[in-house]
Amino acid sequence: MKILGIDIGGSGIKGALVDMKKGRLATKRVRIPTPTPSTPQAVGDVVRQIVAEFDYSGPLGVGFPAAIIGGVVKTAANVDDAWIGYEAERKLSKATGSAVTFINDADAAGLAEMRFGAGQGQDGVVFVFTLGTGIGSSLYSDGVLVPNTELGHLFLPGQTQDAEHRAAERVRSAERLSWEAWAARLDEYLHHVYGLFWPDLIILGGGVSKKHEKFIPHLTVPTAVVPARLRNEAGIVGAALAAAEARPGD
Ligand code: BGC
Repeated sequence: MKILGIDIGGSGIKGALVDMKKGRLATKRVRIPTPTPSTPQAVGDVVRQIVAEFDYSGPLGVGFPAAIIGGVVKTAANVDDAWIGYEAERKLSKATGSAVTFINDADAAGLAEMRFGAGQGQDGVVFVFTLGTGIGSSLYSDGVLVPNTELGHLFLPGQTQDAEHRAAERVRSAERLSWEAWAARLDEYLHHVYGLFWPDLIILGGGVSKKHEKFIPHLTVPTAVVPARLRNEAGIVGAALAAAEARPGD
């Protein structure tokens, strides 16, 4: 059973067929730069292009960097504001002819990690954070997702900007921070989250998680912190999982 998963990010839109038994990509990943401006129309065209490239029909899962409720996009932090209020599932289902499931990108990555990666069999309170253009958060209680947590937008005490504007991976490269300096910012953020939610485990994902040995050893947050295992495939795998679970009969 293979389902097409698409991960829409601030810089790239990635898609692949996912082997739902193994939780792995069954094909090569297609990556198309996110159009500027990243309007629903322009991004929708790229989604249609990816569906056509795989000659795909069937349930389609899409991870998107926003809070999403009932298939409607509620926020727009790293994408065009025209997305706010957009009925993404309904409109994209019409445009692609597939039954589309929209899910927050970090929740998609988190679902994949919980099912197939570093969170397998983990009870208690687990956070998956994705470190990329922004900071995505995904919260689990005994394996059950609490969706749309949006904790990249927390303000740390004394700060006047969203935490993701100080501690996302994009900031590390834009400000040319050393691994230590960036890890210190991330650590400050994780301490704050720890003091609010008391997680038993924190899983750090996003493409940078493949360099985990450069920053995880610098973290002092007093709970278990491990790198994600599915790396930047998690978003695609999780989007496909969300589509499969939305329509279990397919
Ligand atoms: C968005 C989240 C998203 C995260 C990672 C944040 O700016 O608000 O919805 O999960 O970036 O892409």
